[in-house]
Formats: sequence, C-alpha cells, structure tokens
Amino acid sequence: MDTFKRLLQYSRPYWWRILIAAIASIGVGSMDGAFAYLVEPVLKKIFSEKDTAVFILLPFGVILLFVVRGVCRFVNDYFIRTAGQLAVQDVRNEIYHKNMYLGLRFFNRHPTGVLMSRVLNDVNIMQEGVASIITGVFRDGFSAASLLGVIFYRNWQLALISFTVLPLTIYPAQKIGRRIKNLSKESQGKMGDIASILQETFSGVKVIKAFGLEGREIEKFFTRNREYYFFMRKSIKYEALSTPVMEFITSFGVAAVIWVGGSYVMSGKMTASEFFSFVTAMVLAYNPVRKLINSYNVAQRSIGAGERVFEIIDEKREIVDAPDAMTLAKAQGDVEFNGVSFRYQDDNVLDNVNLRAKKGEIIALVGPSGGGKTTLVSLIPRFYDVTEGTVFIDGIDVRRVRLDDLMRQIALVDQETILFNDTIANNIRYGKPAAADAEVTAAAQAAFAHEFIMDMPDGYGTNIGDRGVRLSGGQRQRICIARAILKDAPILILDEATSALDTESEQMVQNALNNLMANRTTFVIAHRLSTILHADRIVALENGGIVEEGSHDQLLAKGGLYKKLYHMQFQG
Ligand SMILES: Nc1ncnc2c1ncn2[C@@H]1O[C@H](COP(=O)(O)OP(=O)(O)OP(=O)(O)O)[C@@H](O)[C@H]1O
Ligand SMILES: [Mg+2]
Repeated sequence: MDTFKRLLQYSRPYWWRILIAAIASIGVGSMDGAFAYLVEPVLKKIFSEKDTAVFILLPFGVILLFVVRGVCRFVNDYFIRTAGQLAVQDVRNEIYHKNMYLGLRFFNRHPTGVLMSRVLNDVNIMQEGVASIITGVFRDGFSAASLLGVIFYRNWQLALISFTVLPLTIYPAQKIGRRIKNLSKESQGKMGDIASILQETFSGVKVIKAFGLEGREIEKFFTRNREYYFFMRKSIKYEALSTPVMEFITSFGVAAVIWVGGSYVMSGKMTASEFFSFVTAMVLAYNPVRKLINSYNVAQRSIGAGERVFEIIDEKREIVDAPDAMTLAKAQGDVEFNGVSFRYQDDNVLDNVNLRAKKGEIIALVGPSGGGKTTLVSLIPRFYDVTEGTVFIDGIDVRRVRLDDLMRQIALVDQETILFNDTIANNIRYGKPAAADAEVTAAAQAAFAHEFIMDMPDGYGTNIGDRGVRLSGGQRQRICIARAILKDAPILILDEATSALDTESEQMVQNALNNLMANRTTFVIAHRLSTILHADRIVALENGGIVEEGSHDQLLAKGGLYKKLYHMQFQG
C-alpha cells in the first residue's frame, strides 16, 4: 500500500490535468446513466403508446448523446494519459539522476542491462498501472455509479438481490492480484537479464565474433527469452483467468435478477419497460465494474515494478559530501596516503599504504598486474572510500572536501579510453565544458591529436560513434589526453595512458605529457617502464603493499622487484 501511495504521489504535480479528466469522466458516466434511464420512457412511448414524435426525435437524441459522450471521453483520455506520461518522465529523470550519483560499488553490483531495463521497462509498467487506476477510479467509477443509480431507482429490491454476489468476488480477485504482482516482479527481473545480455553482446560483438561464439550467445539469449515467456505465460494465465472467474460469479446475480425480476413483471409489480431499463443499466454497468476490479490486478503489477524502481531511488549514496564539507578552490597538489587499507569485498586489496607526493612531484607506480595500482589512485577522487586510513589533499582528508571541488582538482586518463557518441570537440570539452574552440584546439595540439583530427571528414565536428569506435586505439587515447590537458587540474592521474600508442606517437605524447606534468602532482602507472624513467620517484606495489620506493638508479642498485621487472623488459 505504501508503494502504491508513493506511485500516486508522482501524479500530484499534474493534479489539474487529473481534475479536468475527472470532470470529463462525470460527463461520460452520466451519459451512460442517461442512456440506461431513457430505455424505459422510450420503450413506453414508442412501443406501448406508439408516440410518433418520440419515434422521429429519438435517433437524433442517440447521436447527440454519443457526441457528448465522445467529447468527454476524448478529454478524459487525453488529460489522464498526458498526466501519466509526465509523471513517468519525472520518475525516469529521478532514477537516472539517482544513478548518476551512486558510487562505483553500486555499478559493480548491478549489470548495466538490468539498470537500463529498470529505467525503461519498469518505469513504463509502473505508469500503465497508475494511469489505469486513475482512469479506473474516475471514469469507470462514475459510469458504474450512475448506472447503479438507475438500477436502484428502477427497483431497489431487485438491485440488492443482484449485488448479493459482489462480496463473493473479492476473495478470488485478491488472490489473483497477488499472484500477478509476484509474477510481474519476477518477469521484470528476467527482462533485466535479457537487457543485460543485449548490452553485453552488442558492446562485445567483436570478441564474440573473434571466438566464433555467436551460436553460444544465441543459445544463451534464447534460453533467457524462453524463461521470460514462462513467467509471462503464468502471468497471462492469471490475468486471463480473472475475467471468467468474475463472470461466473456474477452470472448467479444475473440469473437471480431474471428470475425475481421476471416474476415482478408477471405479477405487475414492475412494467416491462422498467425491467428492460434495469437490465440495460446492469449490462452497461458490467464493463466498468469489471474494469474496476481488474484495475486491482493492474495496480498489483505496477506495484511490483514500482518496488524495483524505488529500490534504486532509495539506494543509499555511499560517496556523499560530509555535512561540514569544505570548499577547495584550487589545491596546491600535495597528496598523501596515510595507513590506507582498502577492500572491494572480503579481502584487503590495499594494505596499510603510506605514500606522500609533494606538489609537482611525478610518482610512477609499477608492479605486477593486480598489485593494486589502479585501486590506489582511484581513492584520490573518491571513486571508493578507504576502508582504513586517510587520503589527504593539501593536508585535508578528501572525505571532508566538497565532491565537486575535489573532482575539479583531478584530471584522469584511464586504462579504459571512455569516449561518448558525440563530436571530437565535445569529447575533449568533457575536461572543461565552457572551453572556447581555441582552447580545445590547443589541448589537441599538445596531445598530438590535432593532425589526425584535421584529417577527419569534419575535423573537430566529426562524430566518433558509440564509445569512439570510429577511432583507432591510439587516437582514442590522445583524445583522452587532450581532455585531461584541457581540464588543467593540479593533480594528474595517468593510468596506462600511453599503452595504445606506437613508439613514435608515444614519444610525441610523452613530450606532451611532460609539458602537462610540469607543476602538477602526477601519478603515472605504466607497464612499459620506458615511459616512467624520468619520474621523481618510483613506487613498486605488489599484493596491495609498497615493496620498494626510490629513483630509477636507486631501485636498480637495490636489486629487488623493480630490477626484476626492468630486466625482464629490456633483456631482449
Ligand atoms: N571493481 C572491483 N571489484 C572487486 N575487485 C576488484 C575490482 N577492481 C579490482 N579488483 C581487484 O583488486 C586487485 C587490484 O586491482 P587493480 O586494478 O588495482 O590492479 P592493478 O595493479 O591496477 O593491475 P593492472 O596493472 O593489471 O592494471 C585485483 O586483485 C583485482 O582483482
Ligand atoms: Mg590497473
């Protein structure tokens, strides 16, 4: 019930649309009632009294009645459904907004496809439910009410008899509704799995082809699709069962009405015209009443979807501004890890790391794969918070700095070159959205990207496609470097930033990076040791701990891990 109240709250800002729709539904309802009511005088005038005037006018009356009803219905539909769409838009915006501010841990836990399915499918189902409830309550409610008015007006005893069966429908309606809700929740989960496969296979299509695994992926997809069908089939079964069960129960009411009403007519307690008016109202009332009962099922389904949506909206943000967070305009760039330990799940990935990088220093992080280099630098911009210890910038705990201020201090070129489906210029502008064209060009020049950009069909205006697929690996990397150059932040993190470049462009980019690194505190991670020879200090990380620290020459002389790595690379 709480979920449902929450669902309805989203339509609150659009109350005036709902109000107009409600007024229109009074029109629809009263026309239904009028129609059933008029059966009696019409039958009496035309068939008993043979009144020709009524006979001639009646068809016009019928047309007029349906015109009025049609206009009301249109207004009702239009305003209810636009209100529904507006509410959906709000929910979608809210869930997306929420997602953007959730920490990386959340995204590690939830597959992309599942999140997409929640934003698209679940929100839709939720909306269908809310719209159908509101229409149900108003339009079907008013129609049912006015028709019931006619029924009771014609003969209240008969009306009571026909309604004795109604309470009998409540129990099966509830039972079926609850099943539908659970099934809908599960089938939406299955839809999430399907979306997940889609997302993965479409973005990993190259690997699938390279390994000739199309068949296996197709099999996987077919299986998931079939599982979805099985849930849907159950859900359809219950929905389809709902109407016949209700009809069966109400047929007892109809039978009783014919029996009792027929005997009233025969004994003269009721005229035949009155009886027909009664029956017309009862028949017309059937549809809205059925829909009212059915809207319970629809509500259950939308509650199922709503619960999944609210799960995300209610997800606690892990990385938030401290209540007394302080502003930081431009940091000096002093970074310190003090007794830092960190774990993703159970085991420590970093263990009591102590490291200090003074303003303008270049620190190279080396070590075997999985040693914790990427993890260590991801603690500076608070992608994750430390499990123990503290990370300081200019002597301030990063958790005490306002997040957007913190992000402004750090430029990052990642192991993954993430680009967006946009123009080259706009991708570079991610570093500084307000940058002028000249600044963008200057950044690209410094990253040795200007030349190849000018060779593209539309230069800086060239769209590079989804994830930058229309660029080579090295070109993508240079765009990412240009982005970092443009950002002009005091702390620079280069995680395998030159791994996709050939020796020549690496040399050029290295020169660019050298310019970039001047006067900035830089953490550079590289497996190719040639790129880090000129670092101020080299730090070797293994199994989450610092094993060596010093200059290139010092570490070579020491004869430990660094020397081993160095010789492995340069022996050939
Ligand atoms: N998102 C994650 N969730 C759980 N464990 C993770 C996650 N990312 C990394 N790890 C684990 O943390 C450890 C350190 O990973 P990290 O990426 O920091 O290594 P790295 O030194 O950067 O390696 P590489 O040189 O290969 O990039 C690894 O054992 C890895 O399995
Ligand atoms: Mg790494």
